[in-house]
Amino acid sequence: MSDAFVARSLDEIRFWSRVMKEHALFLRLGFRCEDTQLIHEAQQFQAIFEDIERRSNEFPLSTDPHTIREFNTEVRNAAVHIWAFKRKVLGLILQCKLPGQNNFPLLVDHVSREANYFRNRLEELNSGRLEPLHDAIIDENIFFLKIMADHAKFIGHLLDPSERKLVEQAREFSNDFDTLMYQAIDLSSMRPQSQIIPLLSQFVDENRVSVKSLRDFKKTARDLIEECRIKSIIHPLLADHVFREAERFLFILDMFERSLSGMKVNKREILF
Ligand SMILES: [Fe+2]
Ligand SMILES: [Fe+2]
Repeated sequence: MSDAFVARSLDEIRFWSRVMKEHALFLRLGFRCEDTQLIHEAQQFQAIFEDIERRSNEFPLSTDPHTIREFNTEVRNAAVHIWAFKRKVLGLILQCKLPGQNNFPLLVDHVSREANYFRNRLEELNSGRLEPLHDAIIDENIFFLKIMADHAKFIGHLLDPSERKLVEQAREFSNDFDTLMYQAIDLSSMRPQSQIIPLLSQFVDENRVSVKSLRDFKKTARDLIEECRIKSIIHPLLADHVFREAERFLFILDMFERSLSGMKVNKREILF
């Protein structure tokens, strides 16, 4: 059990600390040159999460769970601080106090939701109270489907308008994921009666098909940007970042799929 705790904690921290480090970079690049204080704060977060990422990669799986528990708490606090920074920036943008800066409000809100998710995961791990599978399936999907829908919108808006075909494809993905997200919310409001294996399996399968095709689209976009074959204002690291987040969602969906198919219960049974 403690081995699983160490492995799970390190896996979350390795993935999300890199993400947090990159968010700080994207925010910094979007500020105006005169916003020196905000730039400085973003640089500090970059350094903090770079350090966390490095340390998370140095811990072996045999590390004492108590050490990891303390590390989780430290990282959780850093996640809370970067969350507060992102919300502060969002407030400044929405009040038009940073005219001409280059981060969309939805992007700033989006990265703050990811910080909050990271904080929640660490708290769940440390308290040992992981959400039951039937709730996790619905809640994780609602969270990640919105994340994927947002990514499609960012890509669509940051591609050059002259890349008409790609912009159109991005818009289609945005609509597709908005629809999937509303379906997930519908399933959520039908809880707990909707939490039966056939419905949850179908839900996971359907989402996975769409995430795979969005993941492939992001991979193509990332490669095209990297090779300078398309016109956009997308940072190559941002293209790779959203690709990795789609891969993460797929990894989670695969885990759900395995857990559901491994359940030795009557298929009509309600899971609670
Ligand atoms: Fe992100
Ligand atoms: Fe994201």
